[in-house]
Amino acid sequence: MHKIKIAGSDDEFICMPDDTILRAALRAGHAMPYSCNVGSCGNCRFELAEGTVHHAREDSPAWGERDLKRNRWLGCQARPETDCVIKFRSDAKYQPPFVPSRQSAKLVSKQSITHDIAEFTFTLAAPAGFRPGQYALVEIDGIDGGRAYSMSNLGGTDQWQFQIKKVPGGAVTSHLFDAIEIGDTITIDGPYGSAYLQENSPRNLLLIAGGSGLSPMVSIIRGAAAAGLLDGRQVNFFYGGRNQDDIPASALIDEITGLGTNVDVQIVLSEDASGTYQGGFVHDVAWAKIGDSISDYDLYFAGPAVMAAAIQKRAYETELAQDQMFFDEFY
Ligand SMILES: Cc1cc2nc3c(=O)[nH]c(=O)nc-3n(C[C@H](O)[C@H](O)[C@H](O)COP(=O)(O)OP(=O)(O)OC[C@H]3O[C@@H](n4cnc5c(N)ncnc54)[C@H](O)[C@@H]3O)c2cc1C
Ligand code: FES
Repeated sequence: MHKIKIAGSDDEFICMPDDTILRAALRAGHAMPYSCNVGSCGNCRFELAEGTVHHAREDSPAWGERDLKRNRWLGCQARPETDCVIKFRSDAKYQPPFVPSRQSAKLVSKQSITHDIAEFTFTLAAPAGFRPGQYALVEIDGIDGGRAYSMSNLGGTDQWQFQIKKVPGGAVTSHLFDAIEIGDTITIDGPYGSAYLQENSPRNLLLIAGGSGLSPMVSIIRGAAAAGLLDGRQVNFFYGGRNQDDIPASALIDEITGLGTNVDVQIVLSEDASGTYQGGFVHDVAWAKIGDSISDYDLYFAGPAVMAAAIQKRAYETELAQDQMFFDEFY
């Protein structure tokens, strides 16, 4: 283990050999900026003032020659080889609401939601909390790197649920869908993420999910209902898929719709010509309905990068304040 000192302060923390600098910093309660935790977004970049590190994921997409020249590294992938001094600008937004920890977790159920999304329920070694919208890293023996999955239920119990989309040829999702059996054990590290439900906000809720982004939006609306936030506020939940195979199980839709009288759920299918469902792209449909009153809403969204980019563009064009927008980058 190595000691990591934060330059310009008296703060220091310990990084264990199998940990990364970002995760160790968050475990020690430091507000180090980040988003994806898998080396893809670059938000966790820091400057190494003293010491040496290497990246757990050597081909991290968000890191390159320019970073190496400036001795900049990705916190979510950097493993210290010596004691280090690091520089980063801390931001209260990233203060962990719960200390992330690694636990063994046993699969107790697997339930289909669409043709390629299933809800996986794991029992943790000990109960642990998270905020609705946060995610955890799922680690499987023999597969390099944890994968991020957002919880779909509410924290504070020993059961964490994840709605996971199968990726053709994907290492972890193939294992989860085709190999793992009820009773098998994996490792879960979390919670992480800053795109969680803001319980103190008085605004309406606009939730947009595409494909794999279903899970955190389901957790957020469940969390809003549990916190008594749905009375007297409008909730618009848009879910985007390609065709009718992507429509979530009716039990889930009925549950969400039944959470409050002001909850409106719309399924938007980009490639369905039957006329039964709203056609087009989910962000276009959401803005057609909400665009003029967007400033009355907090916007939460999750899903494929192309959808996330389109939503950010719309939010920018309609001048939605940055502090009314919550998302973690999905890769
Ligand atoms: C914050 C966040 C939340 C997410 N939430 C969900 C969710 O709720 N539901 C859902 O279905 N999907 C979610 N995803 C996407 C998910 O994490 C995976 O990208 C997807 O399941 C593919 O994993 P795979 O192993 O099957 O595919 P692969 O093709 O084997 O891996 C794809 C992804 O894994 C990551 N990766 C690959 N190698 C490494 C490595 N060595 N170290 C670290 N990372 C590596 C990369 O991000 C890559 O894009 C989320 C992603 C992020 C970043
Ligand atoms: S690259 Fe480290 S948090 Fe995204």
